Amino acid sequence: MAMDDLIAALPKAELHVHIEGTLEPAMMLELAERNGLRLPYASLAEIEAAYDFSCLQDFLDLYYAGMSVLVTAEDFHDLAWAYFRRAQADNVRRVEFFFDPQGHTARGVAFATVMEGLLSAQERAERELGMSIAPILCFLRHLPESDAFATLAAAEPWRERILGIGLDSSELGHPPEKFMRVFAEARRRGYRLVAHCGEEGPADYVRDGLDLLAIDRIDHGNRALDDPALVRRIADAGLALTVCPLSNLRLCVVDDMRAHPLRRMLQAGLKATVNSDDPAYFGGYVNDNYRAVRQALDLSAEEIVTLARHSIEASFMDGTEKAALLSRFEDAREDYFRNRPPAAG
Ligand code: HPA
Ligand code: ZN
Repeated sequence: MAMDDLIAALPKAELHVHIEGTLEPAMMLELAERNGLRLPYASLAEIEAAYDFSCLQDFLDLYYAGMSVLVTAEDFHDLAWAYFRRAQADNVRRVEFFFDPQGHTARGVAFATVMEGLLSAQERAERELGMSIAPILCFLRHLPESDAFATLAAAEPWRERILGIGLDSSELGHPPEKFMRVFAEARRRGYRLVAHCGEEGPADYVRDGLDLLAIDRIDHGNRALDDPALVRRIADAGLALTVCPLSNLRLCVVDDMRAHPLRRMLQAGLKATVNSDDPAYFGGYVNDNYRAVRQALDLSAEEIVTLARHSIEASFMDGTEKAALLSRFEDAREDYFRNRPPAAG
């Protein structure tokens, strides 16, 4: 179908993907075996059957259990390398990926082991696949701010290699305010700042992300739509939202894909982007997310182009690199429409 070809043809950036959320069930079983660990699942089918979530916390419980198979640097390398290859197949040229070091250090895995594995996969993908990649370290918001400070200190030897700091895990009851001081310190150290807000939490959490954490980009942000003044403010500031349609459906942030707010976001002038979040858990990688929302909302070719262009504009690449990727993007778009007039749909 023509629109699917357009989605596949456009170079894009993925700005909201948790590397631990790319752990496919088959790799989970393989790594459990390799590390002599027991999982509560006997088969792929049992794992897949367990992925039936009714809220964010349901998912997080399995997400933390799943990542326990990641032990050695090689495990982290294999995980990230598999994702980079998969993303490349979707024409993703730039990745800003999240990782959750506290999910590993709490189990006795050294911060250095995590970094060694992830960065070696990143270097390999940059070299062999020609991708541009940068990590964003997320603090787990259900843990105390003091743990986030300790994690920021542990990251210090890799400061030049880590692009930004993010905030994820259980949102309700853990507002941005809890992390004000550690985000201010991260800003002083030169990190870009992002935070999950307005996924399950209210519009107030999105406003607090801006006012109290001074974030440069909003992860999810769906609930901002409940507050028209906030929407205007985000649009005027040109702040991007990293929207995750299949995640929203699977975590019941939306009841039905046809009710997804993505088009309303675009109509409100928001710089919305499409991302996969935790593709191994939510049933699809980035192009699957574009296709799902394209079909459910009957998005036009122009809307698809806008979303993909936003992904590059909203990335934290430096000016030169961003301009180069945007120029490749416009070439790919023109090539596509030269052979297929937009009216053909
Ligand atoms: N929300 C919050 N925390 C997360 C998510 C998410 O969608 N995925 C992985 N950690
Ligand atoms: Zn997320």
